[in-house]
Amino acid sequence: MSSENNDQSEKTATGAEDEKTPRSPWQHMIRGLWRSPLGLLGVGITTISITLMVIGFIVDVLGIFENPYVGILIYMVLPGGMLFGLLLIPIAAWYRRRQWHKYGVEKGHLTLNLSNHMHRMGLLAFLVLSVVNVAILTLIGYEGYHFTDSPYFCGQVCHQVMEPEYTAYQRSPHSKVACVECHIGSGAKWFVRAKISGLRQVVAVITDSYSRPIPAPVHELRPARDVCESCHWPEKFYGKKVKTFYSFTNDNQTEPERTEIALHIGGRNPESDVFEGIHWHVSNDVEVSYLAADRGRTQIAKVKIKRPDGSTDEFIKQEIVESMGDTEHQEWRVMDCIDCHNRPTHIYDLPEERVDFGLLSKKINPLIAGIREDSLAVLTKDYATREQAEEQIGRDLLALQKSRDAKQAAIHAEDITKAGEFLLESYLGNVWPETGVVWGTYKKHLGHQNADEGYGCWRCHDDEHENTKGETISQDCSLCHDEPE
Ligand code: HEC
Ligand code: HEC
Ligand code: HEC
Ligand code: HEC
Ligand code: HEC
Repeated sequence: MSSENNDQSEKTATGAEDEKTPRSPWQHMIRGLWRSPLGLLGVGITTISITLMVIGFIVDVLGIFENPYVGILIYMVLPGGMLFGLLLIPIAAWYRRRQWHKYGVEKGHLTLNLSNHMHRMGLLAFLVLSVVNVAILTLIGYEGYHFTDSPYFCGQVCHQVMEPEYTAYQRSPHSKVACVECHIGSGAKWFVRAKISGLRQVVAVITDSYSRPIPAPVHELRPARDVCESCHWPEKFYGKKVKTFYSFTNDNQTEPERTEIALHIGGRNPESDVFEGIHWHVSNDVEVSYLAADRGRTQIAKVKIKRPDGSTDEFIKQEIVESMGDTEHQEWRVMDCIDCHNRPTHIYDLPEERVDFGLLSKKINPLIAGIREDSLAVLTKDYATREQAEEQIGRDLLALQKSRDAKQAAIHAEDITKAGEFLLESYLGNVWPETGVVWGTYKKHLGHQNADEGYGCWRCHDDEHENTKGETISQDCSLCHDEPE
């Protein structure tokens, strides 16, 4: 700092002489900053962003719009704009300063003199603006955090990617439970993990590199015991539950076959105080863990159990173990709710289930000959897009019926159209060819309907996993269900 400059600051320090003394380069710079195009741009962007953000925030809080893109604008784009604008201002100042140096203006440090009225006002303005900015950003950040946690954001913003999960979720018993309740849960650790993997997913969507279909099981899912047990109490005694299944065949469309089973759901029996039945696997003093040969957990090689009395046991299926090679370094998984309830909310139907439900509820007139077979044919046909299905399902059904019996098709034309609409609705609720979600992409473990493909209870309960004494994990039908009384 030159001595001349020092003189000047000393003079300015006397305050009263303010207006007369020439300004130091820094004072020029702070004032000049507003006149630099870059600085002005920064101020402009900041001001516009803040104004829109405040208006948008009020509109959002009042609930005038329900559009996720408005949320993205308010909570993500505009705060970004505001920060960007704010950042431009010091950059502009730095740039100006360099320019001035080039033209020979002396280097000077910023001297702040609180007895100088101008300095005081400047500092005050700076502090007030900073507090206001931080307050706005905090408020928006807080709201924005809740926004990125809403099912709305998860399900709607990534519209195409999450549409299958969101659709299935909306018609499930958990449609009022936010996605984050199961996918993130509370606690800082999971919050950070979720937001980091969330960011990675956003990048995957932007770069269009995400998997289609999104693979299940979800490996980063928070342990189900934490998640599910925040609402469901496994100690609760659920006893037996009677379930009725109806099914038709192509030869018999009118009288459904009816199967009734009483599932031994179990839980803690209040009379004997023993944990029994199906929920035995998740009682507090039992631990069932398993080693799967594949990422999809459909091939189970070994099962270990720890019983309430402390004894342990291990069941092995040699055939699968041999196919695995090295089993020493594989990861064991402790069985939890999701090993059975893998589809608690993203529940997809199978085509037969939909058609049989249609016949049962008379949305498909069962008196039309061949309608079951034709319905299944149009429902399971490969359509390239959902739009194509919308165009073709009704038309194809009518065509099939006409080729079967033109006279009958004419008589039942109205019912066939109605059936076509029902089938289209079923299709649209379950199939997204563009994201790779088709009939049967996501199968459930609860039961044994898809046992041949490695889903359900029979992955372990197959009478083929043996312990050293030659005992097996039982497939005895009455272990899990019996005839209702
Ligand atoms: C009741 C708990 C629960 C809720 C609520 C929930 N999910 Fe899931 N979700 C799961 C479970 C459990 C899985 C893992 C399925 C598996 O491992 O086979 C899963 C899997 C997924 C998958 C992977 C693909 C698939 O279908 O397996 C996506 C994507 C997903 N959920 C998105 C969402 C979105 C978006 C929402 C909110 C609209 C949501 N989830 C709400 C429990 C839930
Ligand atoms: C935020 C609370 C909440 C969480 C977390 C939650 N559930 Fe639920 N669950 C509910 C509610 C509410 C219902 C509906 C109850 C009803 O309608 O009777 C329900 C229903 C169910 C049902 C019965 C469905 C039926 O067809 O009757 C099952 C099974 C279930 N949940 C399993 C799970 C599993 C497994 C998890 C963990 C992945 C889980 N829930 C997580 C709140 C929750
Ligand atoms: C071994 C498989 C298995 C495990 C593990 C399991 N469940 Fe279940 N659960 C079932 C079956 C099977 C049913 C009956 C489903 C049905 O109604 O079709 C059931 C039913 C339920 C129901 C509904 C009860 C009713 O009366 O309809 C709830 C709630 C539930 N389970 C919660 C849980 C929770 C929470 C966990 C984890 C702590 C869990 N389950 C672990 C198999 C399991
Ligand atoms: C990961 C392997 C595995 C899966 C999957 C599995 N189980 Fe089990 N289950 C076991 C083992 C191990 C035992 C204990 C066998 C023993 O004690 O000899 C058991 C025991 C049982 C019992 C008897 C509990 C008691 O009171 O002693 C029932 C009931 C049962 N399972 C039902 C089911 C149902 C229903 C499903 C599917 C929804 C299922 N299990 C899925 C491993 C499994
Ligand atoms: C390890 C437990 C377990 C064993 C063993 C078992 N089941 Fe099941 N079964 C279930 C469960 C759980 C369901 C309910 C599925 C659902 O809710 O969708 C079921 C459902 C059924 C259904 C009705 C659903 C359908 O597919 O039509 C039939 C029929 C059935 N079982 C027959 C049998 C027979 C026969 C055996 C003996 C060979 C047997 N089960 C053994 C657990 C078991």
